[in-house]
Amino acid sequence: MKIELAQRIRALPPYLFADIDRKKVELRKQGKDLIDLGIGDPDRPTPPHVVAALQQAATHTPYHRYPSYEGMATFREAAAKFYAERFGVRGLDPEKEVVALIGSKEGIGHFPVAFVDPGDLVLVPDPGYPVYATWTRFVGGEVHYVRLRRENGFLPDLSAIPEEVARRAKLLWINYPNNPTAALASRDFYRRVVEFALEYDIIVASDLAYSEVYYDEPPPSFLEVDGARECGIEFHSLSKTYNMTGWRIGFAVGNAQLVAGLGKVKTNVDSGAFEAVQAAAVAAITSPQDCVEEMRRVYRERMNALVSGLKEAGFDVLDPRATFYCLIANPAGLSSADFATRLLTEAGVVATPANGFGPGGEGYVRLTVCAPIERIKEAVGRIRRMKL
Ligand SMILES: Cc1ncc(COP(=O)(O)O)c(C=O)c1O
Repeated sequence: MKIELAQRIRALPPYLFADIDRKKVELRKQGKDLIDLGIGDPDRPTPPHVVAALQQAATHTPYHRYPSYEGMATFREAAAKFYAERFGVRGLDPEKEVVALIGSKEGIGHFPVAFVDPGDLVLVPDPGYPVYATWTRFVGGEVHYVRLRRENGFLPDLSAIPEEVARRAKLLWINYPNNPTAALASRDFYRRVVEFALEYDIIVASDLAYSEVYYDEPPPSFLEVDGARECGIEFHSLSKTYNMTGWRIGFAVGNAQLVAGLGKVKTNVDSGAFEAVQAAAVAAITSPQDCVEEMRRVYRERMNALVSGLKEAGFDVLDPRATFYCLIANPAGLSSADFATRLLTEAGVVATPANGFGPGGEGYVRLTVCAPIERIKEAVGRIRRMKL
C-alpha cells in the first residue's frame, strides 16, 4: 500500500536542526558532557504548593470526568482577576472573554482555524515562534513575514507594510516579551498596533507567554490599550511563570467573538484541560507570588553571568530585557548553523541557530538560561576558550 503524507505536511520547511540534533546524539554517545542551553524549558520544579494542589485535586472524583470545553468557572474567574490585578484590564467576562487552553501553544495553533480562510494573508513576525507560520499554512493561509530588526528594538515597522498587504491581511501575530529576541514592547507600540488593526480590519493575536519572566519593569499586556479588546485576543501561559511546561495549561482572553471562535474549534478538537490541573492552576495564580519573584531572581543571576561573561570575551550579546533567552551575534564569517555547530562540537554547548525562527534570525544563535548557574558559568568558560 502506498502511504502519502498530506500536502500540508510535505510542504513544511525542512527541519533546520536535524544536523545539530544528529551531532548531539553522536557526542552524547561518545560520553561528551554537553551543556544544553538550547531549549526554552525551565529546569526548576513547579512550586510545591501548586504540586500539593494537584495532588489534592487528583483525588476529587468529579475531576476525573470530561472537563468542560471552555474551562472551569473558577479557572476562568482566576484568569480574569489576574488580568485586572496584574495589567489593570478590568471587567473581563470570565464566561465570554476567557477560555482555558491545553497550554498556549494549543490555542495559538487552533486560533487560525477559526479565522483564517484559504488565501488569507497572515502577518507573522520574523524571527518568531514557528507555530504562527505553521498553522497559517495548515489552514491554507499565506504567510507574510514582518521583519523584526535590531535597529527597531525587534518591533515590527508597521508603516513599512505595503498598503495592499495590509488591506489583504486578516491576522497579525505579536509576541512581547519576545522569543527569540528577548525584546519588550511598550504601550505606545501597542497603541500603534491597535490603530493599524482598526484601520485595516486586522485581528491582533498577542502571545504573552513570557509576561512574568522579566528583569526590570513588568511588561504590559496588549489588552491594556484602548481599542485592543475590539480587535484582539491574547494568549497566556502558566508554563514559564510557574515552571509548568509539562502540565499543559494556559488561557486566552480578549474580544468575545474571537474567544468564541477559538472555543468553537476546540469543541471539535479536544475536550478541555484536566480539571485537577485547572484547580492547581487556580492555586498558582491566586496564591502569593513569591515563587515568581524567586524565579526572576534566579534567571536574572544566571542571565548576568551569561551576558557579562560573553561580553567580556568580546561577543556581541543582545541585552535581554525579559524571557530566559539571549541572542548572540555570530562571529564574522559564520552562519548561525556554523556557529551553533562549532559551539556544540568545540565547546559542548547546545545553542539554537536563530534562523530556525525564520530567515530574519540568521546572524544569531539563541542561548537559554534554563540550566543551573554553575553550568552556565562552565559554558561561558568553554565558549571563551574557543578559537573563533
Ligand atoms: C513565544 C511562545 N509562545 C507560546 C509558547 C507555548 O507555551 P505553552 O504551550 O507551554 O503555553 C512558547 C513555548 O516555548 C513560546 O516560546
